Amino acid sequence: MDRIRIVGGRPLNGTIPISGAKNATLPLMIASLLTEETLTLDNVPRLADVVLLQRILGNHGVDITTSGKRAGETADNGQTLHISAATIVDTTAPYDLVSRMRASFWVLAPLVARMGEARVSLPGGCAIGTRPVDLLIMAMERLGAKVEIDGGYVVAKAPRGLKGGEVVFPKVTVGGTHTAIMAAALADGTSVIENAAREPEIGDVAACLNKMGARISGAGTGRIVVEGVSKLHGARHAVLPDRIETGTYAMAVAMAGGDILLQNARPELLQAALDVLTISGVAVTPTNQGIRIARNGGHLDPVEVTTAPFPEFPTDLQAQLMALMTRARGTSHIVETVFENRFMHVQELARLGARIQLDGERATIEGVEQLKGAPVMATDLRASVSLVIAALAAEGETIVNRVYHLDRGFERLEHKLGRCGAAIERLSG
Ligand code: UD1
Repeated sequence: MDRIRIVGGRPLNGTIPISGAKNATLPLMIASLLTEETLTLDNVPRLADVVLLQRILGNHGVDITTSGKRAGETADNGQTLHISAATIVDTTAPYDLVSRMRASFWVLAPLVARMGEARVSLPGGCAIGTRPVDLLIMAMERLGAKVEIDGGYVVAKAPRGLKGGEVVFPKVTVGGTHTAIMAAALADGTSVIENAAREPEIGDVAACLNKMGARISGAGTGRIVVEGVSKLHGARHAVLPDRIETGTYAMAVAMAGGDILLQNARPELLQAALDVLTISGVAVTPTNQGIRIARNGGHLDPVEVTTAPFPEFPTDLQAQLMALMTRARGTSHIVETVFENRFMHVQELARLGARIQLDGERATIEGVEQLKGAPVMATDLRASVSLVIAALAAEGETIVNRVYHLDRGFERLEHKLGRCGAAIERLSG
């Protein structure tokens, strides 16, 4: 199993290209199931989750080809996928595939919308809290599907097609909102989705669906209206930049010190996180090429942050911020309200010398003078990258084990950081 070795203490200087967003790419690929024509996606990141979803979609009969290299293109450019679900041969998503990536459960809505039925395994346990799918099922039922659970599978049927309806989410859910939009796109009549997630990836998927002929308005607000159409067609769409990758590298620079251009990053996608960095004493400068992040010499001030759905501070940057605050001058508080139990990184950060106390959903982080390198274990995607951030400022060597978590969500992380001066290498095997 690969590991990453980091020797801390080197500042970061240069340019880091920001990849296409994983959390938009996955639902965009899944949206290809809604049409028999080809969906072409540009700026797709090279990630293990994308490869896994290719396999899952392949099992339904979807053909996916990747464009070859074009003149002037480098590994910094995203890839282009041509996705064709001309014929769906299987409407079952089996446990061994769905259990490896939660978002693959989202194939439920487009399969039912297009084929009138689907059998999708429940995702099963997950490292961060219980992460149920009750609200996704509720949305399907509100839009006319008959749903039952059979042998660990969600079996949803709408043999005469889905029907427009009203979906009111009692809690903001990204997956629930994707599900409702995709189901409503091909439903008979108009649907209204209330308390919808406002994450930028929802807007990106809705924009792509509209290019495919859907009639969706209000994406990016809490109320989305979808007028169902009978058919969708092919389209071409470029995935928006990854705001979580952007925020992660911004915190890496804040931690290590230095001056970095996050190329292609868009500040409006993570304003809450940039504001927190500014309060902490980091220089954040939007430019027409991206966002410049700098910290030269000054100390970090502590912060008070509560995670919440967009546009608030994202839960997917909570672990990274916590790593950063281990070096602040004073005591920080971070409250996690989106996922229960999303604090697995705390014990590992403690191995590097961090002082963090947990009280339910609230973490108190007392800044220390210096972290010290140690062997640590990655437990999930965002937690593992928080260990990388801590290691960049720790004295001596840190080995991050189980880096397959990182490969799920961060494209060529060690190259991007290494090119800017970090002492980081992958140890294979
Ligand atoms: C998506 C993101 C993930 C991010 C999360 C919150 C992708 C691929 N993943 O995950 O990176 O951390 O949004 O921003 O885009 N809930 C229920 N019932 C449900 C569904 C969700 O109670 O049926 C709860 C969850 O347990 C959680 C909250 O709602 O407490 C938000 O979850 P949700 O927004 O659905 O997360 P995901 O879509 O799985």
